[in-house]
Amino acid sequence: MTSLFNLLLFFFFLVLPFVSNAQSDDPLGQFCNQDTVISKASPIWSNIDHVLTELVSKAPSTGFLTTSYGSGNDKVYGLAQCRGDVSQDDCSSCIQDAGKQIRQLCPDQADARIWYDYCFLRYDDKTFIGEVDTYSGIFYINVENVTDPEKFNKELGRLMDRIEADAVVPENRGLGKSKTKLTPFITLYALVQCTRDLPKLSCAQCLAIAVGNFPGICNSRKGCRVLYSSCYVRYELYPFFFPLDRNDSNIASGQTIKKLVYP
Ligand SMILES: *[C@@H]1O[C@H](CO)[C@@H](O)[C@H](O)[C@H]1NC(C)=O
Ligand SMILES: *[C@@H]1O[C@H](CO)[C@@H](O)[C@H](O)[C@H]1NC(C)=O
Repeated sequence: MTSLFNLLLFFFFLVLPFVSNAQSDDPLGQFCNQDTVISKASPIWSNIDHVLTELVSKAPSTGFLTTSYGSGNDKVYGLAQCRGDVSQDDCSSCIQDAGKQIRQLCPDQADARIWYDYCFLRYDDKTFIGEVDTYSGIFYINVENVTDPEKFNKELGRLMDRIEADAVVPENRGLGKSKTKLTPFITLYALVQCTRDLPKLSCAQCLAIAVGNFPGICNSRKGCRVLYSSCYVRYELYPFFFPLDRNDSNIASGQTIKKLVYP
């Protein structure tokens, strides 16, 4: 009996992490523009469905797609993008979740956006393609502070300069990621990404605004994420981007993360 119980207990703990990973359909956040309420009878409603179907089926193969459907004032524009370092399978399941969830979370809005770590999806009845948008921001901060803010912020600034410069190189498709050793045992990891519809200067502008939140909102925290409609910025003291650094024994678990939404 005891060994059966132990076995069950073993399975319980073994399985639990996978179960919680399966909750990946919970987004990090969404923005449902309350100034764009539409009724089910509106042609925009069915145009959104068309745009979503297209995004979900075609975006994962390249990790990025912009599209539109409809005509005149009812035309709907859509964009879906995965984080540049995730696999096509992860990208595909993320965009599928996004497509499902966004309709449930923002059922009556023509302008809606949804954020995950692995992907971002939005649609609107006004065009936004190629435009920088840093209006609505979602922030995730680790509540713990680093022990040596001065040194940390200097290293963080250097790392950010480096990957922001990488992100605007056309071959990198808006993505910059790297790491730097703070001590023999602590490595700082950071990743930035612009949506791929942005021209170089607009990408740089979005990243500068995102990183501009570091002193105020991220404020020497051990980890921080800035989620905008045009770019994503994140740093952590554990490996979080792919390929995962398996040499680093620091892991994400046990962190207390706080979500902030502005405005
Ligand atoms: C981190 O520092 C901020 C002020 O900069 C403070 O409000 C917060 O409570 C600190 N967090 C912890 C876990 O001590
Ligand atoms: C892990 O450590 C080994 C040996 O020190 C090194 O060759 C390898 O590049 C490291 N991997 C990463 C992802 O840093």
